[in-house]
Amino acid sequence: VPLVIAIDGPSGSGKSSASRGVAERLGLGFLDTGSMYRAVTWAALDRRIPLDDVEVVAELARTAVIEVSTDPRQFWITIDGTEVTAPIREPGISAVVSKVATNLAVREALIARQRQIITETGGIVAEGRDLTTVVVPDAPVRVLLVADPDARVRRRFSELEGKADEAAVTDQVVRRDAEDSTVAAFTEAADGVTVIDSTELDLSQVIDTIVELATA
Ligand code: CDP
Repeated sequence: VPLVIAIDGPSGSGKSSASRGVAERLGLGFLDTGSMYRAVTWAALDRRIPLDDVEVVAELARTAVIEVSTDPRQFWITIDGTEVTAPIREPGISAVVSKVATNLAVREALIARQRQIITETGGIVAEGRDLTTVVVPDAPVRVLLVADPDARVRRRFSELEGKADEAAVTDQVVRRDAEDSTVAAFTEAADGVTVIDSTELDLSQVIDTIVELATA
């Protein structure tokens, strides 16, 4: 059976970098599920679909063709043939993505697509908010990566390379945590999930810890 490693965590917990690092070390694929919620959000805005029109946004999520890289060394994502790799990281997307992600019919559609990608890839590190609890709860390795809010804001701020205001980033990280936490699956570590607190760890230490879990 191909190895599946599921990693969840809030914004700025370092889950994306850690997941990529683990995938590279173990020669596995990599799936960033948040990018799919971001891509649907991008497409809805592009088509002037009001994000609170749950039916129309859900229909978009069900019908849009999403292709996403599973190569940890090179990330890209397309929706209906348009590459949206860069635009999905814009603050305008981050600010409203929770609205799309709390649409349960959107989740149903994207989770189905995620399971398909995970099955096709054969050995993968998949990261997001609900991998350990909903998408692949049977994965043999499941990790919840947490960090203090201050540390998460600092990381997110440095990722944005000074192209943002620190107060705005703080507001965004904290507000998105609150909005996301309305999805029950995000709040607590499920049974059998290993919690790693990365507040005092650097990236390579987090990667080492997960690789150890996976190869034990
Ligand atoms: O910026 P950050 O790394 O926190 O976010 P992301 O992983 O790109 O995910 C963006 C948003 O997508 C999250 O704030 C959630 O609203 C949503 N998401 C989700 O609902 N379920 C997932 N498995 C992954 C992301």
